[in-house]
Amino acid sequence: MLSFSKILSVCAVGAALICAEARQMSKEHLRAKQAEAAQRWESSNTRRSKVAGGGVKNITFTNPKASEFYVDGTSIPEVDFDIGPSWSGLLPISNKTGEKRELFFWFFPPGPEGSLDDLVFWTNGGPGCSSLEGLLQENGPFQWNVGTAKPIVNQHSWTNLSSLLYVEQPVGTGFSQGKPEAKNENDVAAELAGFFVQFLEVFSELKGKKLYLTGESYAGTYVPYIANYIYENPTIVDLKLQGIWISDPSLSWDVVQEQIPAVNFVHKYENVFAFNQSFLAELDAKAKSCGYSDYFEKYVTYPPKGLLPLPGDGNVESAKGCDVWDDIFNAALVVNPAFNIYRIFDTYPVLWDVLGFPGSFPDIQESPLYFDREDVKKAIHAPVSVDWTECSNINVFPDGDGSLPPAFSVLPNVIEKSNRTVIVHGLADFILIAEGTRIVLQNMTWNGAQGFHTPIANDSFIVDGVGALGTTHTERGLTYFEVELSGHMVPQYSPVAAFQIMQYLMGFRDSP
Ligand SMILES: *[C@@H]1O[C@H](CO)[C@@H](O)[C@H](O)[C@H]1NC(C)=O
Ligand SMILES: *[C@@H]1O[C@H](CO)[C@@H](O)[C@H](O)[C@H]1NC(C)=O
Ligand SMILES: *[C@@H]1O[C@H](CO)[C@@H](O)[C@H](O)[C@H]1NC(C)=O
Ligand SMILES: *[C@@H]1O[C@H](CO)[C@@H](O)[C@H](O)[C@H]1NC(C)=O
Ligand SMILES: *[C@@H]1O[C@H](CO)[C@@H](O)[C@H](O)[C@H]1NC(C)=O
Ligand SMILES: *[C@@H]1O[C@H](CO)[C@@H](O)[C@H](O)[C@H]1NC(C)=O
Ligand SMILES: *[C@@H]1O[C@H](CO)[C@@H](O)[C@H](O)[C@H]1NC(C)=O
Repeated sequence: MLSFSKILSVCAVGAALICAEARQMSKEHLRAKQAEAAQRWESSNTRRSKVAGGGVKNITFTNPKASEFYVDGTSIPEVDFDIGPSWSGLLPISNKTGEKRELFFWFFPPGPEGSLDDLVFWTNGGPGCSSLEGLLQENGPFQWNVGTAKPIVNQHSWTNLSSLLYVEQPVGTGFSQGKPEAKNENDVAAELAGFFVQFLEVFSELKGKKLYLTGESYAGTYVPYIANYIYENPTIVDLKLQGIWISDPSLSWDVVQEQIPAVNFVHKYENVFAFNQSFLAELDAKAKSCGYSDYFEKYVTYPPKGLLPLPGDGNVESAKGCDVWDDIFNAALVVNPAFNIYRIFDTYPVLWDVLGFPGSFPDIQESPLYFDREDVKKAIHAPVSVDWTECSNINVFPDGDGSLPPAFSVLPNVIEKSNRTVIVHGLADFILIAEGTRIVLQNMTWNGAQGFHTPIANDSFIVDGVGALGTTHTERGLTYFEVELSGHMVPQYSPVAAFQIMQYLMGFRDSP
């Protein structure tokens, strides 16, 4: 066994007596240190109530149809604790006779300290990825995370904030029914608004609640369009939209969010990528000739000096011969077969994932995908006939998504109409890169001006009870966060940071 000499020298300063005796850190001491660290995070910033708990805030729904959706919280397969009351199943997107399109939802009332005045809606992205991933591995009341043996209670469940509604959308995703026909984001928004109307007929006690729309990745496109639709058609959905959360969001062109920042990203994490010197030199030369290497320094100024140009030939995917993102991905897989574009710190072996993505691959998955099990489907009123996969094999936009990226269309209006808007980015995410999102924001005009006018300060995001964990910056109704060490799925990889950001969005705290 190795002696933990580095740790030992630290503990010699902090706890001289204990460490001087033990010339080598004991297993017990090591575990105690880790347990203490876990405890520090666990208790850092969960909302504390002034009155003692009292259990989940069960809601009595008077419409008898609601009881058809009731889920028995004690009989969720593999979950050996009571997840509390919840409701799930399929509901159509309109009340037209013969409507075949239905979306699958799972609704949770607030936990003991959550608010009854609010409703948080969560969707994953893709397009075509199931929001049940968010439920089981990001922010739901029970969690079954990658590489773990069984489900556990999530201390940072967003049900601790308010009611929480997961919807698998658009049509074509997860358990949803019917033929995908969406041509663009307005179709998606109209479908979901239709679903909300049907949902609120059954769960009418939720009418009039304050609504927050949240999601990640491609939901960075869905959510602004859905919010815009609701703001522009205020009589359709009987909920009071307050604001949105989008994390590691698709907001703009790939060249901006993937290509321009890719080589800078490699340099920032040079020891993690572990590329050889000649490949690094090749990357640098390519980034230089493609107009990527000095882009950030030249154009990302506070305030911006004008509109930001597209590099090279103006191609929105990547300039010709300039696809450095794929070069990096291919080379990363050579040295690290477990390389994970969603969190670059992953190394061999690939951890087993009960949802089969992105943690492990379908052909090596030894057990059935959790939501594809018949007992699970039955417990949550899901159609047994559907072969569930996390990210649908069906194209949810049969002819592509005809909408412009939201930074060029609806996002400014949504920020202007919302109380608060949060855009969040994990700094260890390679599929969408934070520096690219900074470019997007500096090129966007909202509330009368372009971009941020003062620089984003280092160490400005302070997680309660922990300390600096990235950056945050607010101007004109938009708050941007960057979270150190977090991959693409921020509520999964940094649940404490995510929880604090949601508290800010919902007005449960004054500062980010
Ligand atoms: C919650 O309410 C439903 C009716 O809306 C009821 O059937 C159920 O037993 C309640 N559950 C708990 C845990 O109180
Ligand atoms: C169908 O929905 C519309 C509006 O959403 C409503 O006006 C109408 O009464 C509903 N029809 C039925 C039969 O429920
Ligand atoms: C948060 O939610 C979990 C799961 O429902 C619960 O066990 C925990 O006590 C809650 N924490 C707080 C502070 O409300
Ligand atoms: C910046 O915005 C302008 C105007 O919408 C657009 O023409 C240009 O392509 C954008 N630049 C980038 C880098 O996205
Ligand atoms: C360096 O990395 C590149 C890209 O993966 C590879 O093609 C090349 O063979 C590597 N060189 C050495 C010496 O391993
Ligand atoms: C902020 O941190 C980065 C490294 O992450 C560094 O390059 C930069 O100089 C720092 N900025 C300031 C103003 O200190
Ligand atoms: C949003 O703004 C409205 C009007 O200013 C206010 O009444 C409401 O309380 C605000 N909501 C939140 C969550 O801050």
